[in-house]
Amino acid sequence: MKHHINGAELFVEEKGQGAPIILLHGFPLDHSMWQSQVVALSGNYRVITPDLRGMGQSDVPVSNISIAQYADDILTLMDKMGIEKAALGGFSMGGYVAFALLRKAPKRFTGLILANTRPEADGQEARKNRLNMAVSLYEKGSVVARDAMLPKLITEPSKQEHPKLVDTLSMVMESMPAEGLVHACLAMAFREDSVDLLSSISVPTLVIAGEQDPIAPPDVMKKMADQIADASYHVIPAASHLTPMEKPEAFNTLLIDFLKSIKA
Ligand code: MLT
Repeated sequence: MKHHINGAELFVEEKGQGAPIILLHGFPLDHSMWQSQVVALSGNYRVITPDLRGMGQSDVPVSNISIAQYADDILTLMDKMGIEKAALGGFSMGGYVAFALLRKAPKRFTGLILANTRPEADGQEARKNRLNMAVSLYEKGSVVARDAMLPKLITEPSKQEHPKLVDTLSMVMESMPAEGLVHACLAMAFREDSVDLLSSISVPTLVIAGEQDPIAPPDVMKKMADQIADASYHVIPAASHLTPMEKPEAFNTLLIDFLKSIKA
């Protein structure tokens, strides 16, 4: 359903009852990337999967937006939904938003899941690449993001094994509003560095890496986990970047065990 949040309509899927868990998608994706997690969790939890502003079915920002403002949308959404505290999961770009949420409102989160994400801000080269991507997206549309990202999201063997997954991903990425993706590129290019935040994170944290992830490689994620006091670190074998969709069983086992442990 849609919620009116900070002057925009935000699409939010909500399933199940129990302790709330909010899962934030990556770029250039939407809430649908969490489909198998929603199925696995919604028998026991209230699972909330929003589309960040400008992606999926949420309104495209009318002026430029920062990662901190995506986070403000989530805090306002929590207020509107009457959620004082929730477990929070972020995949990749969703992880950047999760860091911003932990910076703004650490007391509102009971546990943190960081999947295939990294705490450093973009360096000069990465920033330049994002700006180039923003221009291409603006000129040629969302297929630019699809073509850039698809080869990195899942491994070759998984592509052979699950052709339907590739079709679904292509469709989702093609259907993104290109201007929303332009905003996301600019927000990521100029996001705050979160390395200093890590030592202040006091909630239990689950860090999940993909063995062959070229975007958030395991060594970067291990270093990140080492700086968070109460973090457990796991690598999913034979997986690339998009672990929640490429290896849903392995991902969900880690997620369910973690959520049980923070409840206990
Ligand atoms: C994502 O999956 O959200 C993006 O790869 C993040 C990024 O490009 O930094």
